[in-house]
Amino acid sequence: MRFSQALALMASFTKVLLVSAQTNVCQPKDRTFSTEQTPAGSHQPYNIFQNPTSSLSSSKFYISIVNLTPHRIKLENTASYQMDTFEFGDIPQGRARQNRIKYRNGWATSDDAGEAYYRLDGTDKKFVLRIKGTGSRVDQRSVTLDLSGMNLGQRVYRFPGGETTVALVITGSNKYGFHASIKHDYGGWMRMIYNTIKDRPIRHLIMTGTHDAGMSKITDKINSIGNSFNTQNQGINIYDQARAGSRWFDLRIASIHSNNDASRNNGFWILHVNDENADLAIGNSGESLDEVISEINKFTRENPGEVIFFSIRYLVGRYEFPDRGPITWNLQIWNDFLSKLRAINNRCLNLDLSTGLQNRPASWFMERNENKGCVILLLDGQNLKGDVPKESFADGVYSTSRMQVRDHWSNMGNVDAMAPNQVQKWREVTRGGGSDFNQLYIAQWLVTPDALASTAFGLQAFAIQQTNPSLYWAGVSGMDPERYPNVLLVDYIGVQQKDQTGWDSLSAEMYWFAIGMNLYTASENCGVSSQKSPLLRRSEEAFKIEGRDDAWNGIIFANGTTFNNPPPTFHPGRIEVLRNGTVFANGTVLETSIPNPWW
Ligand SMILES: *[C@@H]1O[C@H](CO)[C@@H](O)[C@H](O)[C@H]1NC(C)=O
Ligand SMILES: *[C@@H]1O[C@H](CO)[C@@H](O)[C@H](O)[C@H]1NC(C)=O
Ligand SMILES: *[C@@H]1O[C@H](CO)[C@@H](O)[C@H](O)[C@H]1NC(C)=O
Repeated sequence: MRFSQALALMASFTKVLLVSAQTNVCQPKDRTFSTEQTPAGSHQPYNIFQNPTSSLSSSKFYISIVNLTPHRIKLENTASYQMDTFEFGDIPQGRARQNRIKYRNGWATSDDAGEAYYRLDGTDKKFVLRIKGTGSRVDQRSVTLDLSGMNLGQRVYRFPGGETTVALVITGSNKYGFHASIKHDYGGWMRMIYNTIKDRPIRHLIMTGTHDAGMSKITDKINSIGNSFNTQNQGINIYDQARAGSRWFDLRIASIHSNNDASRNNGFWILHVNDENADLAIGNSGESLDEVISEINKFTRENPGEVIFFSIRYLVGRYEFPDRGPITWNLQIWNDFLSKLRAINNRCLNLDLSTGLQNRPASWFMERNENKGCVILLLDGQNLKGDVPKESFADGVYSTSRMQVRDHWSNMGNVDAMAPNQVQKWREVTRGGGSDFNQLYIAQWLVTPDALASTAFGLQAFAIQQTNPSLYWAGVSGMDPERYPNVLLVDYIGVQQKDQTGWDSLSAEMYWFAIGMNLYTASENCGVSSQKSPLLRRSEEAFKIEGRDDAWNGIIFANGTTFNNPPPTFHPGRIEVLRNGTVFANGTVLETSIPNPWW
């Protein structure tokens, strides 16, 4: 080859490289996020708690679908039999929709059924939702999310309760591959989307957080009246919360002392009380600090390379009797506490604090400790007095103020008031571009019922029936590529059915919601992502991570039993014959029974 030919060849290579670099740049014209509004939904009314049986007797419920893909999710048709309400519709890109179902005459009939058929626009991917009743009991009513047509498996849920929700989150794209909240996936979700988030500052990420994270049980270390109904905020421990996606743990830690001897420290415990400094502290204790530490160490051992924040407060002592006031920590207690914290693996020591930690990119943390990641310990030291230090850089313990945070707690007892308040507040700040908000934003997506209500109905019911389900229409409807919180703090993460806290009984919406918001919504903001959205590119590396089983098309039943390899014809609730009386989406009523054309 002559020299000039070689030059020409090189020039054309360069051109190809430039063009492909260009196509990998985020450009506003590539945005797929839809500004179309879906119909407003409803929250489960508060009075359903005042009459707990109405939660069972109301035959109305919702299936909320969240679309975190660049494809419109189109309703192809519905077929329903003996339903008063069967309203489904399209879900535009980036949006959510609360679909409504009401069984006819309450529970009077026993063979109600309906199916909704969806397609992802511009793809060959389809899925079906099936609602079925075989009798008048609540456990004879089921909802099947059948995503086997997308190779994403099936999930059967029991009727979730009157006027509450079964939620489905879908993310990915035809190029990237799809994922849905049928089940949890690999624990290290940040590693799984490393290429997408590595260059983003922490203040541009979306993470789940767990409120009163160590209150997954009641341990009675103080003799107060807090019980599992009014004082327990989570159903699963720190290890499972981390696997369910939480990366921000709200931990309130106190030392517990013998009644007549402040010098007898009986250990460090998670505490949830009305006021840790009050003479009389009403509440109770949860996990021990030792348990929290061994649980997070187990998680980071199995899932290296994540960024995990422990936001720690209280830091006072309490006597076993709750009415003897707080004990201010002395140096001895502080040193004992610090030596406990040293047992946390992958702390991040001696960080450069010249800018707020929220401004550091995710990879700055994820690659530390030889790629094992960071557990960042942030202390709110307002109860620490005198010569007691509030930080220890050499131990990886930092003041909360090393990260600039806006934390919005609505302090409202009811989701009707809380949800619009949260949305309005986080929409006051924008991400990326010239007016980029330079702090971390924590949204507390939780309600604070008064003692009477929480004792009567339980914090669990408020979380799993009312508050968490509302995230999947009201919360999502308030988010877009420029406006979203960084931490969504929730109660009872993952719990879908009351007291069903076994790993396989949990639901995975929060997990996939955080992943999908980072992958899809934030990536559509060119001020957050200089690269073209990963979902608009074919990515060899998408979701490929060692130890992750990415070809699952099984089924999880309502009782938590899982079949990993069901026969291809196995689809619970499928209707073989559409009976005379079946109503289609266009309102046409069948006058004779016909074989189900979608069977
Ligand atoms: C759970 O449900 C499945 C499907 O109905 C059934 O095959 C299985 O026996 C059930 N398991 C238990 C423990 O009840
Ligand atoms: C209504 O929908 C059914 C089922 O898809 C179809 O067979 C029928 O032709 C439609 N009727 C009208 C008037 O469009
Ligand atoms: C369909 O149902 C209607 C009302 O229930 C009934 O009058 C009609 O005879 C049925 N038609 C057939 C073909 O079964």
